Amino acid sequence: MVGMTGPRTIDLTGEAAADARALRDAFGCFTTGVTVVTTLDGTRPVGFTANSFASVSLDPPLALICVGNEASCLPALTASGVFVVNVLHVDQQALAAQFARRGADRFAGVSAETWHTGAPVLPGCMANFECRTEQSIEAGDHRILIGRILKVHHDADHEPLVYLRGGYRRVHTD
Ligand SMILES: Cc1cc2nc3c(=O)[nH]c(=O)nc-3n(C[C@H](O)[C@H](O)[C@H](O)COP(=O)(O)O)c2cc1C
Repeated sequence: MVGMTGPRTIDLTGEAAADARALRDAFGCFTTGVTVVTTLDGTRPVGFTANSFASVSLDPPLALICVGNEASCLPALTASGVFVVNVLHVDQQALAAQFARRGADRFAGVSAETWHTGAPVLPGCMANFECRTEQSIEAGDHRILIGRILKVHHDADHEPLVYLRGGYRRVHTD
């Protein structure tokens, strides 16, 4: 928990192998929301939990996600050229866990709507962004997908699900 390992400085420019743990811990100090990114594999809905979502541009409306090169959804994301970012609220932690589980039917018990693209939109979320991929950029062990936002829904009358230091958290918003 907070401060357990104490402060550390790691120089990643040297000969020493990158300290993945330290880098992960440092990234983990940046608080994010939690989303489920969905798309279509042919006609089959697929998706995964992601916290790499970021807003990019208002005009034109753009957002990005980063997808691991080994992620099972990457071929479907590339082939379909569309995705939906479903922003979770605090009561949807179980959904975050379900969509990060390997080998499970991630859509078991999950209802979905479709908008313009046919990609699944999860109802009852804090926000949904339906996107068409505009740029796909190789970036180390991930790929950055920049999407043009076609349609959004938001319901700010919720508290967000938050991810910090490797764990789900809640914040109280006044
Ligand atoms: C909170 C959280 C955030 C995650 N964020 C991302 C992400 O931004 N990009 C990504 O590729 N995987 C992310 N993952 C991992 C995926 O959800 C998924 O577990 C991983 O891609 C392995 O799934 P696969 O079996 O579909 O390959 C995240 C997992 C969790 C629990």
